Amino acid sequence: MEIHIVDDADAGAKVVADLFERTVRGAGESGAVLGLATGSSPVPAYAELIRRHREEGLSFAASRAFLLDEYVGLPVGHEQSYHRFIRDNFTAQVDIDDSAVVSPDGAADDPAAEAAAYDLRLRDAGGVDLQILGIGSNGHIAFNEPGSSLVSRTRVVGLTRSTIEDNSRYFDAPSDVPVRAISQGLGTILEARRIVLTATGEGKAEAVAQLAEGAVSARWPATVLQAHPDVTVVVDEAAASKLELADYYRYSRALERENPLTPQG
Ligand code: PGA
Repeated sequence: MEIHIVDDADAGAKVVADLFERTVRGAGESGAVLGLATGSSPVPAYAELIRRHREEGLSFAASRAFLLDEYVGLPVGHEQSYHRFIRDNFTAQVDIDDSAVVSPDGAADDPAAEAAAYDLRLRDAGGVDLQILGIGSNGHIAFNEPGSSLVSRTRVVGLTRSTIEDNSRYFDAPSDVPVRAISQGLGTILEARRIVLTATGEGKAEAVAQLAEGAVSARWPATVLQAHPDVTVVVDEAAASKLELADYYRYSRALERENPLTPQG
């Protein structure tokens, strides 16, 4: 796990956007498969990618995108649906084809069947090249709440009270927050070839410390990322404040910047 402790959300957005830009440019005409997340954490990175699209010609025209999750019961286009969120905050502002932005159908008659089909759709697309993640204050990634199986697949999950409270800021009242979601599982997320997780603020500090340094456990679902070979974590000082090894992470990043490893001979 490569941990970047940055001054603020804008600095973090650049680190995340660099990874996206490299992935998109690296895929060339065959197109990258991007794994997108909703919530507030990725928004600064999306804003930076929109800027690069407008000002620097970064094109997403060949890319496809898959969302992590969707509320059960919200129809496509609902104001608080993640289908809508990702369009408002990212994909409708760049040149990706709208039909290439895929999310589970929260209004499906059979949400369990929809979840299983979504898992297969991801596989059929060849898997995700770069997945962006936020993290819940309770350590969830996507809607894999504490207690989730570490090998879970895309499925219907019940949201915890703390997640409903965290997300009620987007709704008129906590009682309006859907109580279930279709979410990629932890095993599904681990199949992404590269993962970047971003978090800011003190409210995430405990979850970030567990993610990077805690024992791998269903109690803190994000700890499963310790078993993935290519994870970058981008956090501000407040979110990094409970990391015991923060000095080592800072030293490692400085070493890479000031004394990069170059092939010998
Ligand atoms: P946030 O949510 O980015 O809005 O803080 C993250 C999450 O709950 O996964």
